[in-house]
Amino acid sequence: MSDPDDKNLRPATKLVQGGRRPEWTGDPRLGGAVVNPPVWRASTILYDNVADLKARGHATHDKLYYGRRGTPTVWALADALTGMEPGAEGTLLYPSGVAANSAGLLALLSPGDHLLMADSAYEPTRAFCDGMLARMGVRTTYYDPLVGAGIAGLIEPETRLIFLESPGSLTFEVQDVPAIVAAARERGVLTLLDNTWATPLLFPALAQGVDVAMMSLTKYAGGHSDVMMGSLTATRAVWPRLRQAAYQLGQAVSPDDCAAVLRGLRTLDVRMARHGANGLAVANWLAARPEVGRVLHPALPGDPGHAIWSRDFTGTSGLLGFTLKGTDDAGRARFIDALSLFGIGFSWGGYESLAVPGDPANIRTATSWTDPDPLVRLSVGLEDPADLIADLAHGFAAL
Ligand SMILES: Cc1ncc(COP(=O)(O)O)c(C=O)c1O
Repeated sequence: MSDPDDKNLRPATKLVQGGRRPEWTGDPRLGGAVVNPPVWRASTILYDNVADLKARGHATHDKLYYGRRGTPTVWALADALTGMEPGAEGTLLYPSGVAANSAGLLALLSPGDHLLMADSAYEPTRAFCDGMLARMGVRTTYYDPLVGAGIAGLIEPETRLIFLESPGSLTFEVQDVPAIVAAARERGVLTLLDNTWATPLLFPALAQGVDVAMMSLTKYAGGHSDVMMGSLTATRAVWPRLRQAAYQLGQAVSPDDCAAVLRGLRTLDVRMARHGANGLAVANWLAARPEVGRVLHPALPGDPGHAIWSRDFTGTSGLLGFTLKGTDDAGRARFIDALSLFGIGFSWGGYESLAVPGDPANIRTATSWTDPDPLVRLSVGLEDPADLIADLAHGFAAL
């Protein structure tokens, strides 16, 4: 097996090799190694004697100490994710994507601090700022995700963190991450990016200067709609703060779930290529339909985010939105209810297609969503795109 730390390996190869360290997959006494890091379920770790127990020291994070500190299955997933982000020191795992975002905010902010939060961030992320962070005395200012270098004008003496999400939830604005990161660095402000849409395959966030990259592993990384988890991958300067906070909060994930996410990760490259191609086929077809007002997909040349997307991203995932021209809520419901291949349900990034109504106007505060046409969000899965398009045609027929 190749050296998992080999920096020259390409991303698709790293996805296959990541986390499969010999010390986690094999045992010389058994004379071999298995392909996948086995599921190590543990609370108690046994020591040879008291001296051994005392010598271990609870600062350890990659030696068996106590179940909450992880086992090789957990470390293998964290290691594989770290390997996907050039410039990363380590990865911490959380029970969901929301837990990861909240943990990152909590770890990096203190009473009296100021946070700049993208107006297009996932709604529960905003809820944490307006709820628990506000209660702790952390002030949040929501900013236009398209602010770019203009973010410099919003940085206050107390600003400690800028939170980004690109493309944004429901509305898919593409942020100028390099410009925002440059302004943040100049003022000594940290950046945290929700990179769930792109994953490090399409946007290696730390290489773009971001300090902490977050992913809901529930989506594309897991990829099979059967596991919830989140991750934070961080630079050497920030990672110890995240680790300390996670330990103090007792945040731990199940090794069974880690094995499920690791299995998903192995095929992320091929799945993402198919999600992206299917999503584009659907988006192009939608754009030509008379019932569609606009398609929200940065890989389409007419999209407002296309130029930055082309500059910064190496591909597209399969999550997109579109509006139904001149229809109301009831018409949108008729459209979605008429679909049979697209399931109706939350989350996205699984192998199967999903459709949900989205209402950004109720969520935004720094910007306003004024489009009167109702919005539909599609998570385009791995089905044959011709079948998906035929299904969507049924939806239009029901309008
Ligand atoms: C952009 C984004 N970030 C974070 C999350 C939260 O992830 P989870 O559902 O794993 O808590 C979601 C979930 O939909 C999301 O869309």
